[in-house]
Amino acid sequence: MKALLLAADVFAAEGSGVKRNLGRQGVDAMSGRNIPVGPIVLLGAPGAGKGTQAKLIAGHYGIPHISTGDILRDNVARGTELGRKAKRVMERGDLVSDDLVNSMVSDRLKQPDCNRGFVLDGFPRTVAQAEWLDRELEERAGESKPTVVVDVDVSYNQLLQRLTGRRTCPVDGKIYNIYLQPPKTEGVCDVCGTQLFQRVDDTEEVISERLKSYERQTKPLEEFYQKQGRLRCVNGDQPVEKVMADMFRAIEGGAAAAGTE
Ligand code: AP5
Repeated sequence: MKALLLAADVFAAEGSGVKRNLGRQGVDAMSGRNIPVGPIVLLGAPGAGKGTQAKLIAGHYGIPHISTGDILRDNVARGTELGRKAKRVMERGDLVSDDLVNSMVSDRLKQPDCNRGFVLDGFPRTVAQAEWLDRELEERAGESKPTVVVDVDVSYNQLLQRLTGRRTCPVDGKIYNIYLQPPKTEGVCDVCGTQLFQRVDDTEEVISERLKSYERQTKPLEEFYQKQGRLRCVNGDQPVEKVMADMFRAIEGGAAAAGTE
């Protein structure tokens, strides 16, 4: 618990970001598969709900969800060279090197399913990664839409509950929370009945390190994207459906606004 209190000090001292209510109520219930979207970047602290929202966004617009954390964990599980290099770093709660992650994302963006757009979850996480992404996207032939960046802002205590209570299905990736979004039957996926697991980096000590890494290395991206006029903010301290509605408004309003820059 001491480690988490230390992280709380860092988090509180450096602030958790600006909350902004984007206003318009209600969300277009129709499918977004005909809406041109382009690249979407989700920013936010560990446990802010990036993965939860990224899955909903990907499903709504029919674009791929690219989670660098998921790709790295898959490599660790398969014991690849990348996985061996990343394992210890991830277990400590530190960030994997920019070179390794950039090259992993570069490979993924070359897949044809990314042509209409994609949602990046957990990338970029450093200014160097963001600068690399800007260059990479500039070079992509036929990228019709500018990048929209959405920051999901959540209070510190809520983050702790979300991270310590998270459970995930190893088969379909569905994310639950034993306190906030429990499965119908304890420990079992509602969709496929598989036993849920807890991530190895969701222990108090590692959570503390992840939150410190976020404050030091990832939070400066808010200013980076703010200066580019691309940053949209969503209050993540709301039920999933409400966050989702605000998210769609930020993406569609953001895409239109960014298109005029
Ligand atoms: P990664 O997997 O990206 O982890 P993270 O950024 O720490 O984010 P999380 O996955 O923990 O949280 P989330 O925001 O996705 O929240 P979720 O939707 O699951 O990265 C893991 C590690 O990989 C890093 O530490 C690093 O080592 C490495 N790595 C990855 N990318 C890297 C990069 N670019 N560069 C270098 N290293 C990299 O939700 C959390 C919980 O909250 C769930 O239980 C969920 O059910 C619940 N919840 C979600 N939304 C709500 C809501 N609105 N209300 C109530 N509960 C909610």
